[in-house]
Formats: sequence, C-alpha cells, structure tokens
Amino acid sequence: MDNNSETNISNKELFRMAVEAEKNSYAPFSNFHVGAALLSKDGKVFTGVNVENSSLGGTICAERTACTKAVSEGTREFTKIAISGNGGEAWPCGICRQFLYEFAPDIRVITGPDEDHLMDMSLGDALPHGFRLESCDNE
Ligand code: THU
Repeated sequence: MDNNSETNISNKELFRMAVEAEKNSYAPFSNFHVGAALLSKDGKVFTGVNVENSSLGGTICAERTACTKAVSEGTREFTKIAISGNGGEAWPCGICRQFLYEFAPDIRVITGPDEDHLMDMSLGDALPHGFRLESCDNE
C-alpha cells in the first residue's frame, strides 16, 4: 500500500487506503481505530494508524504515524491526507494539525462518514494562524 507511484490519486481512493490501513490500528484502550493515508507531492502514499500505549501519554495518532514514516524515508512535501475513524469521519486533532503544518501548510484534509460523502478542507482553514519557525523571528 505504501509508495504507490500514481500522483493523481482521487480523494475516494485515498480514503479507501485510510480505511484499509485501519485494520492495523492498535487501539485497545479507546477502540477508536484510526487510519491515515498521506499523499506526497511525488505521488507516494504513506499510511499510518493510531498506536495506543498503556502509558496513555505515549499514544501516537494515525496522522503523525504516517507523517513520521514519510519524513523518516526522506519525503517532506505533501498534497493531501485522508483520515478515517472506525470506517467513518475523523478530523485530525490539534497536535496532528500542527505537526502536518510544519511540512505542508497547504495540504488538503479529507474525511467523511463514507467514501461517497467526503469533505475536503485546507489545513490552513482547519488551523488558522498555525505556528511556524518564522513565527519566532519577531525582530
Ligand atoms: N486519534 C488519532 O489517531 N488521530 C486524531 O487526529 C485524533 C485521535 C486517536 C488517538 C487515540 O488512539 C484514539 O484516536 C482516541 O483518541
């Protein structure tokens, strides 16, 4: 599933990949199984799932799993991310919005109750005035 070579993957197809990825979600505490499929500028898809931990604080969300997989493999530019939670709608949490914003402030976020009713929003609208390194430059 990862590293698909097509650059023009549809929202529906990307969402399907997120739902498929959910099968590997490790969520024994919440039972909320999240899948993410992150499309890079050069057409690779990195999937991710939430991985919970008995420390609770060590839990990582699906979106950050996908993003850290991509960055670890040398990919930092992204165009869109599809997210599903228990097969349906799941918007990224605040930490994940900020995490994605670091690499792709213009990324499109796709989710919905099912593949025929997907919403598509820019991260900039989901995270207005997101923090960037340049924000520190106040001289
Ligand atoms: N979760 C995600 O994977 N992504 C989000 O953006 C929101 C929350 C996960 C974390 C936890 O494993 C479960 O959903 C319930 O919060």
